[in-house]
Amino acid sequence: MAAGKRQMKFAVFMSGDSNYHMAGWRHPDSYADGGLNFRHWAEFARTMERGKLDMLFIADTIGTPGSDDREQLSFTSKIDRFEPLTVLSALSQVTQNLGLVATSATTYSAPYSVARAFASLDFLTDGRAGWNLVTGGNREDAFNFSLDGHVPHDERYARAEEFADVVRGLWDSYEDDAFLRDKISGRYFSPEKLHVLNHKGKYFSVKGPLSVARPPQGYPVIIQAGGSEPSKNLSARVADVMFMSQSDLGEAKAFYQDVKGRLDKFGRRPEDLKLMPGAFIFVGRSEAEANERFEQLEEMVPIEVAMARLQHNLGGVDLSGYPLDGPMPEIKGNSARMSAPESYMKIARREKLTLRQTARRAATAKHHWIVKGTPAQIADQFEDWFVNEGADGFNLLPSYMPGALNDFVDLVVPELQRRGLFRTEYEGKTLRENLGVPRPPHPAARAAAAVQEKATAETA
Ligand SMILES: Cc1cc2nc3c(=O)[nH]c(=O)nc-3n(C[C@H](O)[C@H](O)[C@H](O)COP(=O)(O)O)c2cc1C
Repeated sequence: MAAGKRQMKFAVFMSGDSNYHMAGWRHPDSYADGGLNFRHWAEFARTMERGKLDMLFIADTIGTPGSDDREQLSFTSKIDRFEPLTVLSALSQVTQNLGLVATSATTYSAPYSVARAFASLDFLTDGRAGWNLVTGGNREDAFNFSLDGHVPHDERYARAEEFADVVRGLWDSYEDDAFLRDKISGRYFSPEKLHVLNHKGKYFSVKGPLSVARPPQGYPVIIQAGGSEPSKNLSARVADVMFMSQSDLGEAKAFYQDVKGRLDKFGRRPEDLKLMPGAFIFVGRSEAEANERFEQLEEMVPIEVAMARLQHNLGGVDLSGYPLDGPMPEIKGNSARMSAPESYMKIARREKLTLRQTARRAATAKHHWIVKGTPAQIADQFEDWFVNEGADGFNLLPSYMPGALNDFVDLVVPELQRRGLFRTEYEGKTLRENLGVPRPPHPAARAAAAVQEKATAETA
């Protein structure tokens, strides 16, 4: 590989038992008990490190979507699952290089607790922690937080903006070199290097300081997932990685350009934010084998269960009055503000899908891009998106575990490495180093550097 050549980054999307396909848990080569079996998680993480992948990402909803319909729910997996930070803490002790990332939705958590948990994880991993800052895609989470319904979209993002500032402010409670632990003088830390936040805003009142030193990465890597206008602005301002969900290269390119174009306004460079679309992967040793095995999985999903998922993903709409084999109906109303329903509609219009076919799509890959074929065909598609600036990397959605992950690591990674598109060894120790995103300096260090720069300019 030529020095400095841009290379792809990879996350692996894990949730519950981590079989992304709705019938994945029924595949003969999958684990059906992955949700609460740490041995499987340790195996998955080691496989990711063997493949030199960047990060294991746990997507999470706090509550159980669809719990009002226990009949349909009883045909789905991912119901029983680890609390993400708990399992990542355990994984920190059986991994060396892999980034460990979890979702913590800003609508249903408190900034102090999030700042504290992820700072702790960054120490446990020596700088490999990441926080997926989402506003929350599951309206039923609200019912476990003393609310009557999902907080409206705009308000979720207004709260998320302030939430992100409080968390970052808390991570800056101490300067990087504040802790002396000097046994001779008895001074444990330098008092002038403690910064008490004293935040009072619209949503939060948080005094600080955080009870954890500044994290090894300065801030754990911040990831933001979404696609709406407020999501793009939040990502451009605070995120190091954005997970997106375009399923067509033209759309991905437009999105990429749009988001990268917003960074300058916040004093950031385009390369400071890595854009990673979700990619549902299905590898076969031949194209025919990939198609055949894919169809076998598709046939295992009952249509009623797929319909329940689609209606939930579209923001809780009722499509029961529409014919299954008629065209996918247009979605209107409040849910249209969210990006997911719009993404579904784009796919349905582009591929001329019926309601039944759209429901099957929801059960397979939701509104994400489907990448199916031989290792070379998959590498071709990733290369196309990467070279044409539709992506800086990909958030892999493994159809079933561990088979789909093993196939990717054993068959696709070597092909990408041969093409010089992916690393053969980790570049650094921290997740920021491997992703190639800068470590944020402490504001006090930034201020001192600005004073120094001014003085140098005046004497010149
Ligand atoms: C790749 C990806 C991962 C996501 N992960 C989560 C998650 O783990 N938990 C969650 O509640 N929402 C998750 N979301 C949904 C976001 O919370 C967000 O509410 C949703 O995308 C709607 O955002 P938007 O309408 O503002 O674009 C994810 C979205 C994407 C695209």
